[in-house]
Amino acid sequence: MFPLDCVCSQRTDQDQETTISDFHPLDHDDPLEGLTLVGANQHKARADIAGDVRKGLSDDPKWLPCLYFYDEAGSQLFEKICELPEYYPTRTERAILEKNADELVAHVDHHVDLVELGSGSATKTRLVVEALLRRHGKLRFIPIDISRSILEESSRALVEDYDDLEVFAVAGEYHDGLDYLKERGGPPRMILWLGSNVGNFSRPDAIHFLRRLHDSMRDVDRLLIGIDLRKDPAVLVAAYDDAEQITAAFNKNLLTRINRDLGGHFDLDAFTHEARWNEENGRVEMHLVSQRVQTVRIDGIDMAVDLAMSESIHTENSYKYSQAEIEALAAAANFDVECQWFDAQNRFSVNLWRPIS
Ligand code: AVJ
Repeated sequence: MFPLDCVCSQRTDQDQETTISDFHPLDHDDPLEGLTLVGANQHKARADIAGDVRKGLSDDPKWLPCLYFYDEAGSQLFEKICELPEYYPTRTERAILEKNADELVAHVDHHVDLVELGSGSATKTRLVVEALLRRHGKLRFIPIDISRSILEESSRALVEDYDDLEVFAVAGEYHDGLDYLKERGGPPRMILWLGSNVGNFSRPDAIHFLRRLHDSMRDVDRLLIGIDLRKDPAVLVAAYDDAEQITAAFNKNLLTRINRDLGGHFDLDAFTHEARWNEENGRVEMHLVSQRVQTVRIDGIDMAVDLAMSESIHTENSYKYSQAEIEALAAAANFDVECQWFDAQNRFSVNLWRPIS
């Protein structure tokens, strides 16, 4: 359910921007009271799998953008990852929200609208929705997601489950959606960006993304951001290399996808999944490591990829933050850390940030 939450640092944004005036109400079959869907019909898909795969596999060292993990099979595998005993982030963030949701929403204004970047974090979103409903009696929820189908599906479920919830769903890129909302005006907003999705960005790219986010916020708006913390490397590596090999399947699914979408000839058994802790950069890396000398053809992009024995394809980075790094990140992006919540083991953080004007 997290398809395009994962915007990779390697991703290029070469396509034209969607403009605010492009957003308009979208028709949807079976309209539902309390649900409005807006979007930009002419929105161009910005992902270019052929170009990205060619670029990454021509590079030295080789890499692939993590964006492409999330096809249907990949999204399902990711949901399974979230329930693994080793994968502490989801469970920990949920526990922090469970414990502190009421205190957290007491920090924001009465008439706050709840915005979420990505519309997939179901149970965690609901914890905040329910806390705001307890406090204010009614609520408008504004999910922003590039995937219209996922947006519609999760919006519907929420409208059906909560009588006093109105959903105004925005189909589009995060920044486009937020710019559109800023232009539209309205009550203060609490923007949720959960799951430590910031971890997929390189540190400079994270600052860049958050600065843009800052610029599409008003003084009264707040950002609630979940950030995974630095910790014992053994715990980190296990979270990305589970005993059941679900993360391995998730990683290898990238090769399956290239085989399917681009006519690739990757033999999945000729690669092993590896999770490595990179201390210097403070990140967990996922790799696919070639188990033999091989040449893999990708017919759809007319490419032959030579791999040496033990050569790796770097498929994902998941950056972890220390408390000092969180503070530096906030400051660099022009935010004040208004409040923070942690679990008892200090594994994960939920942060309320206020934009500095
Ligand atoms: C969705 C980017 C937060 O980095 O922990 C989980 C993705 N990759 N296991 C993460 C992921 C392998 C996840 N994020």
